[in-house]
Amino acid sequence: MAAIPEFAGNDYLGLASHPAMPDALAEGARKYSFSYKSSRSGLGWTSLHEEYERRTESFTSFTSSCILHTTYLGGAVYFAAIASLGVTDVVCDAMAHSNLQMGMRAAGLKSHTYKHLDTADLVQVMQNLKPGGKICIATDSVFGISGEIAPLPAIFETAKKYNAELLIDDAHGFGVFGKTGRGIVEHFSIPKEDRLTVLYTMTKAMGCDGGFLCGREELIKICRASAIINGGAIPSPPVANACLKMLNIFDSESWRRAKLFENRDKMLSILDRLSLPVVERAGSILCIAFKDADEAKKVSLKLLESGIRVPYFKYASEPRDNLLRIAARAVYSDSDLALLRTALSSCF
Ligand SMILES: Cc1ncc(COP(=O)(O)O)c(C=O)c1O
Repeated sequence: MAAIPEFAGNDYLGLASHPAMPDALAEGARKYSFSYKSSRSGLGWTSLHEEYERRTESFTSFTSSCILHTTYLGGAVYFAAIASLGVTDVVCDAMAHSNLQMGMRAAGLKSHTYKHLDTADLVQVMQNLKPGGKICIATDSVFGISGEIAPLPAIFETAKKYNAELLIDDAHGFGVFGKTGRGIVEHFSIPKEDRLTVLYTMTKAMGCDGGFLCGREELIKICRASAIINGGAIPSPPVANACLKMLNIFDSESWRRAKLFENRDKMLSILDRLSLPVVERAGSILCIAFKDADEAKKVSLKLLESGIRVPYFKYASEPRDNLLRIAARAVYSDSDLALLRTALSSCF
């Protein structure tokens, strides 16, 4: 039975099912075993981990990187590190991803929110904070359900004005945005000043597992030596090897990004012909805002009956429940897109 096409998920470039993936995983296991065996500071760290971590630095042009077994712990690792450097307060977008919200609480930092995507409100919140304290601003770059893009140039300028740290969670920007796909920092030409730390994931456009934090050496060194990094797992050797391979394949197969954007534009024209309100058009997430949750659920079910899957679910960090998230991906063929057109047309 043929699989039902899924116009969903985060494997934007189709790298998760790349033909080189099984061999990359097997090679990592053959050379270093499946298990990471011990912590980063113990016997777990291999020359493969070293090579992978250094490659994340050259790939992103950051001086220092700390690889993570799971990106979800990135917020907790980062906030614990900046708390040890004297930061007391975090000001974050009201809809920031839950790994940031959880991470700042775990680090015992005081959390303040500004209205979603609203830089004027960010400035207001900054002005109201006690003078003299060390502050961090944190936000997603691309919001995972809506696809909305944070106004990062203005956020960066605000961080600079108040001499604040800045954490950008670029999970959905990495591999998609920027001239060479390096993500939102490249897209907006955000300067890599010491205040800037970026959380990257390998689980979305890169089709792998885990992620990494990039920033200035002083801070990243603290992350590498932290309790969360050393009390938990590092990427298993098969994962580290696959990540390393996919970062290289990403550059040698730039047609994947071209195909993603070609498909995205074709999908936008289908959605536009049906006059569907797309929240953000610039990336790979084409989210439709319906009247309410019932309408969004009904469309999702109707699409399934027509043979395509666009699951409706309520996302933890996203208060709006009327959104149906359609993902543009490089893997769709013209016949997949024709199926999408027919299925969507039957809903309205
Ligand atoms: C914005 C954002 N940050 C972090 C994560 C966590 O990434 P991972 O699934 O790679 O642990 C996600 C996952 O969905 C995400 O959407």
